[in-house]
Amino acid sequence: MTDSGPKLKLFKWLKIIISSFIVTVLLLLTIASIRTITLDVNVGLQLAQWEKTKHISLVIDHRQREELIENFKEAVRIPTVSFSETESNTTALLHFDRLLRTAFPTVFSSSLVQHENVANYSHLFWVQGSQPDLEPYLLLAHIDVVPASESDGWEAPPFSAKEINGFIYGRGTIDNKSPVMSILQALEYLLIKGYTPRRGFYIGLGHDEEVSGYNGSVNIARILKQRGVQLLFVLDEGLAILDGVISGLEGPAALIGISEKGSATVKLSVNMVPSHSSMPPRETTVGILAAAVKRLEDNPMPRLFGHGPERGIFENLAHKFGFPLKFIMSNLWLFSPLLGRILERKPETNAFVRTTTAVTMFNAGVKVNVIPSLAEAYVNLRIHSAQSLQEVLDLIHSTVGDQRVKIELVDGFDPLPVSSADEKSFGFQIIKKTVVDMFPAVTVAPGICIGNTDSRHFKDLTNDIYRFAPVWFKPGDAQRFHGINERISKKNYEELVVFYSDFIQNCDIQKLPEPHSSVHEL
Ligand SMILES: *[C@@H]1O[C@H](CO)[C@@H](O)[C@H](O)[C@H]1NC(C)=O
Ligand SMILES: *[C@@H]1O[C@H](CO)[C@@H](O)[C@H](O)[C@H]1NC(C)=O
Ligand SMILES: *[C@@H]1O[C@H](CO)[C@@H](O)[C@H](O)[C@H]1NC(C)=O
Ligand SMILES: [Zn+2]
Repeated sequence: MTDSGPKLKLFKWLKIIISSFIVTVLLLLTIASIRTITLDVNVGLQLAQWEKTKHISLVIDHRQREELIENFKEAVRIPTVSFSETESNTTALLHFDRLLRTAFPTVFSSSLVQHENVANYSHLFWVQGSQPDLEPYLLLAHIDVVPASESDGWEAPPFSAKEINGFIYGRGTIDNKSPVMSILQALEYLLIKGYTPRRGFYIGLGHDEEVSGYNGSVNIARILKQRGVQLLFVLDEGLAILDGVISGLEGPAALIGISEKGSATVKLSVNMVPSHSSMPPRETTVGILAAAVKRLEDNPMPRLFGHGPERGIFENLAHKFGFPLKFIMSNLWLFSPLLGRILERKPETNAFVRTTTAVTMFNAGVKVNVIPSLAEAYVNLRIHSAQSLQEVLDLIHSTVGDQRVKIELVDGFDPLPVSSADEKSFGFQIIKKTVVDMFPAVTVAPGICIGNTDSRHFKDLTNDIYRFAPVWFKPGDAQRFHGINERISKKNYEELVVFYSDFIQNCDIQKLPEPHSSVHEL
């Protein structure tokens, strides 16, 4: 290394600042499957210029409050668990189907709504608009959950929907039954009040998102494609409102996911004639494979921090931070290589810097005195936005660099396209307006998901996929996702119902107001 003195000093200085701020920020943001970093585009669409449409405000009375909470708890109590791509609790999925029909009778009987089951347990609703020339959108959510066991340390049994201090506990309270139930609850109330949308929309509820959505979302997308549907945008789960999670940031931030990392599962295998352990060859299948795996671990994928949308993310949120973070984030043209090096030191933040490589399975051997003829390993990679699946495969081949190791792609896809987030972006601006109208103190900014959702199956039907629900996340809440003590407050659940009610109605404008040009502050 040839670091000069002053440069080294600067590095140390930065290291201290950054590790106490950004690293903790990202650390908190990167737990579980769906985490983020963000950018604020500072769009100025004057609210006064928004087209006025008939607006029904949802004033939730005492009776409705009890009703909507009871419906939601019922949903949480049904263990709609996806165990694997071939195994799910179909009994529970059928119960869930029945619950939807009893909880939302108006949705299921309205002449404006067409409902169909897809792949037996998923649901597709079409809510007809009065103005068929307006391009429809899709609200997406999923009814399955990951497994949960009380013995893992839950404060309340995971399928009890028990209330503790104003929170409802249970698997699926966030991921993802709160959107499922609140979208339909909002529609139920709107229809009861005689609402007819101008812009038609779809609601898609998948039953196997947690195991990739190959039956649910894939078939919903196929049906829409067959019918020639083009979607203005898709709104799915993903990011949330972070409150006190990003240290150094003033106020809460609603992060709207505009992209997701790609993914690849690669199988490495070595095949040789079996031999007896008393006369071992110089190299065995296990030794050859182990060396290949070690080379992959020793040579991580290139550092790409600053080459994907994450650069804009930092730069655009910079104004919400104090000095010196504001300065560092505003000058990533200078600091991104350095920042990348610091971020790569921790697994949680390394995920934003590069395509990650994880060896997840390694199998060989059946008998203590037989050298196995076959050794295989599986490697799971999450692909950075600035790289393609093919580039990643090429790099694996060159890093392994051994003809005896067979390399096969089991499953994989490119990083998702980056959805628009500017002042002409209809979906983004409607989400932003709905959030800001409800929560004026919240900063709305785009973000990136490092995990995946089943909304990717809709990428041929739309240019814009957004991943967000107005669920409030405080420090520590991210670990509840797919972890223990998943919960949502009753107040927050009610906010979701109001949010979707407002959101649906906000989509009734024909087009966005013209952006106003303003002189940007420095
Ligand atoms: C998906 O569909 C296949 C074929 O019908 C079935 O065997 C499998 O169990 C289904 N999996 C889920 C999670 O729905
Ligand atoms: C499946 O769901 C039903 C209720 O819908 C429940 O009684 C049953 O225990 C569940 N099975 C498993 C294996 O979780
Ligand atoms: C759907 O249900 C039918 C019978 O009701 C069954 O034959 C089929 O395998 C089911 N499909 C899936 C994907 O579970
Ligand atoms: Zn989910």
